[in-house]
Amino acid sequence: MGDPAVRIDAHLKVTGQAKYAVDFALVDPAYAVFVTSAVARGSIAAIGLAEARAVEGVLEIFTYLNCPGKLHTPELFSDGGYAATTILPLDSAKIWYDGQIIAMVVAETFEAAREAAYRVNVSYQEEQAMSVFDAEGVETCAVADIKNSHVDPAIGDAAAALSTAAVCLDVEYETPAQHHNPVELFATACVWEGPKLTIYEPSQTVGGLRHGVAQQLGIDPSHVRVISPYVGGAFGCKASVTPRTALVALAARALGRPVKLVASRAQGFTLSTYRAETRHHVRLGASRAGKLQALWHEAYELTSRADDYFVAGTETTARIYHAPNIHTKVHVVRADRGTPGFMRSPLEVPYMFALESAMDELAVALNMDPVELRRVNDTPREPVNGLPYSSRSLMACFDAAAQAFAWTMRDPRPGSMRKGDWLIGFGCASACHPALIAPATARVHLTSNGEVRVETAAHDVGTGAYTVIAQIAAQKLGLALPRVSVTLGDSNLPPSPVSGGSITTASVCNAVAMACDKIRARLAPNPANETLGAAFARLGIGAIEEFAEFIPRGSDPEALQKLYKGSTAIVGGAMDAENIMVSFGAEFVEVRIHARTKEIRVPRITGAFAAGHIVNPRTARSQYMGGMIWGISSALHEATEIDPREGRYLNNNFADYLVPVNADIKSVEVILVPETDTLVNPLGIKGLGEVANVGTSAAIANAVYHATGRRIRKLPIRIDALIA
Ligand code: MOS
Repeated sequence: MGDPAVRIDAHLKVTGQAKYAVDFALVDPAYAVFVTSAVARGSIAAIGLAEARAVEGVLEIFTYLNCPGKLHTPELFSDGGYAATTILPLDSAKIWYDGQIIAMVVAETFEAAREAAYRVNVSYQEEQAMSVFDAEGVETCAVADIKNSHVDPAIGDAAAALSTAAVCLDVEYETPAQHHNPVELFATACVWEGPKLTIYEPSQTVGGLRHGVAQQLGIDPSHVRVISPYVGGAFGCKASVTPRTALVALAARALGRPVKLVASRAQGFTLSTYRAETRHHVRLGASRAGKLQALWHEAYELTSRADDYFVAGTETTARIYHAPNIHTKVHVVRADRGTPGFMRSPLEVPYMFALESAMDELAVALNMDPVELRRVNDTPREPVNGLPYSSRSLMACFDAAAQAFAWTMRDPRPGSMRKGDWLIGFGCASACHPALIAPATARVHLTSNGEVRVETAAHDVGTGAYTVIAQIAAQKLGLALPRVSVTLGDSNLPPSPVSGGSITTASVCNAVAMACDKIRARLAPNPANETLGAAFARLGIGAIEEFAEFIPRGSDPEALQKLYKGSTAIVGGAMDAENIMVSFGAEFVEVRIHARTKEIRVPRITGAFAAGHIVNPRTARSQYMGGMIWGISSALHEATEIDPREGRYLNNNFADYLVPVNADIKSVEVILVPETDTLVNPLGIKGLGEVANVGTSAAIANAVYHATGRRIRKLPIRIDALIA
């Protein structure tokens, strides 16, 4: 465990000095406001602009009438490109989904642009929307049939093993669409100076944004610079290039002045990505002693008509417990919707809800303690390829959390732990997330008076990246933390990977450590007691600057070149040839359900987590705590409500899109379980940003069952589910 250092950017943030992307002052900016589609399928029949143009201050209105051919079609992030969707909104009259951009009004003021946007008159050639799982006309495809690179993990003969297993479970689960809703709105400002474009936009991938927008505009990536020093929440929705950025750049170029866009909260629901709804069919077969004989996991994920985005979380669920027979299969369901995308623990949140609920149901069927069921099926090797875990602290996490939670107080009989009008339930679940890593580069500059400057185009999405990067440099160079300054979030800096998949700390810290080691080597031999000043004097220089390229073990030969092109070649997790690398945790919750009103409360949640070398226990704890709170949100509050007739998001605001507030969150206890992993990477760091909202919703569903005897298999669990 490292030092629990206070965030080095905390003071800047709480005093309002930290500049977010659109806080940068621009010279004479114009303001853009989007008009979005009011239908989910069809095309624009006519678009009347006269009334909008008459608004004082309007400079230009961009539509499919004057934009076609101006932008190149982007390639999807998951296909090796940069984009959230291949849809080019103003390139034609076609409507792919409700909320798609159909016009961009640019005016002297935000108010004029907004008023003119209201006065754009659109008529549609509307077709019936087919936007949800059960709509007629959605198209279901097995991912393995449409994507050559996809393999559904499988071993043995699960169907046969299920037919002979002593105890069997056959159940279906469902999770809803969710939207990220970071506090910072989707915003973009573009400034041209001759052929050079500067983009100010909150981003998890300044390199990807640079290259992606350059590709769409057909310009040299070296002419594009992306600046994003602080990000007001991301969670995946700022990890790929969305259509808005190139449009704002186009407007700025056409008008010859800077253009700034800050989208509304409601528009945020359709300008970026979201977590798609999923359905799961899980079958488990076990011996009387609880040993899994067969695991069967088939799933369906909603996607758009344009892009086959999918997460395929069976990649994880097939590998967490020992089972000799495994069958998995993942499908996409193409519908008239925007393309989904990454959202914190994209694979694990929906898929582990299914598996961890099913494990609890199996424990009930076996009359077995659910912790013991996990212990019986614990394994040093993942079952599909037989690779050993580089480290696996799942049961250590269960034991630590169970003890702190006082799990032994649980009477296993459902509905047995009542206090007055309140039914009490205890539930638990496993949390896991692959420990991923990618190439990264960094430049470190040390002066003879002991000032350190670290530069890399990584991102601090609120996680503490500035701080942990500074800590590694301070440690490696033997200097105090305040001597280190860190610059991130600028695509002109040495490239770093997308801040997604919980890869930043492991990837970037190893690059920074390498650069620091090079500096130490240049200072050597430094005899004991030699001051830094004396060492520099001995060498006859005033400063040392070193640059390092860190390439994780198992990377393909092109991985570094991909990084320089703004892509991220992720390795680790189940992709390594020698080990499987996973961060683990265990979560325990108490729910209280009012016997008459069915009001559901979570008075306490305890999570224990292990993630190798913890660079900063304070920021780690904060990530785990935030993850568990989000998990409570997934279980009880959050869902994007979709009108199935119109394919429209109904609760696209903070009043109706429910997230927990302070009154919903009581005791949140985080335990950091020590773990040493010498195999994951030189510094032994496993990512931990995403693991903690995995399994939380299952733990709560399991506790709800324990409190009431009612098994709820569809999220979120609200009062109506318990009254029905
Ligand atoms: Mo995060 S969903 O890995 O950007």
